[in-house]
Amino acid sequence: MAKSSRIPGFYKLPVEERLKKVAEFANLTEEEIELLKKEGNLNLEIADRMIENVIGTMAYPFGIATNFLINGKEYLIPMVIEEPSVVAAASNAAKMTRSKGGIHTSSTGPIMIGQIQLVDVKDPYAQKRILEEKEEIIKIANEQDPVLVKFGGGAKDVEVRVIDSPKGPMVITHLIVDVRDAMGANAVNTMCEAVAPFIEGITGGRVYLRIISNLADKRLVRARTVVDKEAVGGEEVVDGIVSAWAFAAADPYRAATHNKGILNGVIAVALATGQDHRAIEAGAHAYAAKTGKYMPLTTWEKNEDGDLVGTLEMPMAVGIVGGATKVHPVARIALKILGVKTATELAEIMGAVGLAQNLAALRALAAEGIQYGHMRLHARNLAMMAGATPEIVDKIVEIMVRERKIRYDRAEELVKQFLK
Ligand code: MEV
Repeated sequence: MAKSSRIPGFYKLPVEERLKKVAEFANLTEEEIELLKKEGNLNLEIADRMIENVIGTMAYPFGIATNFLINGKEYLIPMVIEEPSVVAAASNAAKMTRSKGGIHTSSTGPIMIGQIQLVDVKDPYAQKRILEEKEEIIKIANEQDPVLVKFGGGAKDVEVRVIDSPKGPMVITHLIVDVRDAMGANAVNTMCEAVAPFIEGITGGRVYLRIISNLADKRLVRARTVVDKEAVGGEEVVDGIVSAWAFAAADPYRAATHNKGILNGVIAVALATGQDHRAIEAGAHAYAAKTGKYMPLTTWEKNEDGDLVGTLEMPMAVGIVGGATKVHPVARIALKILGVKTATELAEIMGAVGLAQNLAALRALAAEGIQYGHMRLHARNLAMMAGATPEIVDKIVEIMVRERKIRYDRAEELVKQFLK
């Protein structure tokens, strides 16, 4: 039987049992299981090679969101995050999306942009002559990375823009690079530095910056889902979610929070898989503001059946080779749990998680309010801390939530009563 990411009651299992289920799903080895269990699973020697002036390491919780069905394939989603409720919310929303076939994704491919800044030219528009040397520029760029070229990647195109800056016009050359399974910053930066002298030679101007752009708008992911109105709690909740989205589309103060919710999901997967999450965040916000007005990265509508339809579109610069993805042993395990074979597949999954996370937040906000779920989780943690067994924990949570007394002393009292 095909493996399913639908594991009812996963959250109620002890840590060890959850790990066992995930290990079965992803065929983890004994060594990988032991590493996940180990406190401080990044050894100091590796840490010391990753950044400078290392004095130790810092661990974060590594959770699994269940229920994801993306393009007809079952996924368990590794998430590393310090905020409670996010993993539970993602799992819940993913369950809702299964009502009409899960989440569907597509993407533009792994294309990044490198920028070369040229100043001190009298006739900036005439410098579009750089384009006449496009073949040579691409050749110089590709000489820097024969391995990337061998795998079908490399510099593919050149664009030239004249921008108006506070210091006068500048000529900005864009190197368009297919970075395949890499995040791409190293490859693109090396190429930009290599072609800069040639561009100075053609133009007689002066090159300053040679660096990747994090507005990765040629590396977009898209996710789409239809959710049965009954799965979200009825047509009124559907209307509430659409209205929450419309609020974000009209107001940047709300759009920032709306997008923060999306990034809760995206960045948790980025951390688990060792990505440069600042690059993803920078790209997300710049893309959200691309029209000059800061907008939500998702849309929510009601279709003719009264069901909820959601879409997401955002840049997603991620890699599965090089960087922390390669050297951090837990990031390797996260990629194995996901079972991804390409950076593009990882990017699309992250888009799907972002969409689900947004659905969870908007559903809660439009229905019972965000604090209800938080309080339930908090009550559950308190009950467990107070010694509640799996048989009584749900009952204790119900009582504490009903009484609105979510406190450790009350949890202790109830545990004593039930276990008497
Ligand atoms: C909290 O981390 C995220 C939310 O504020 C997102 C949102 O408001 O859409 C709940």
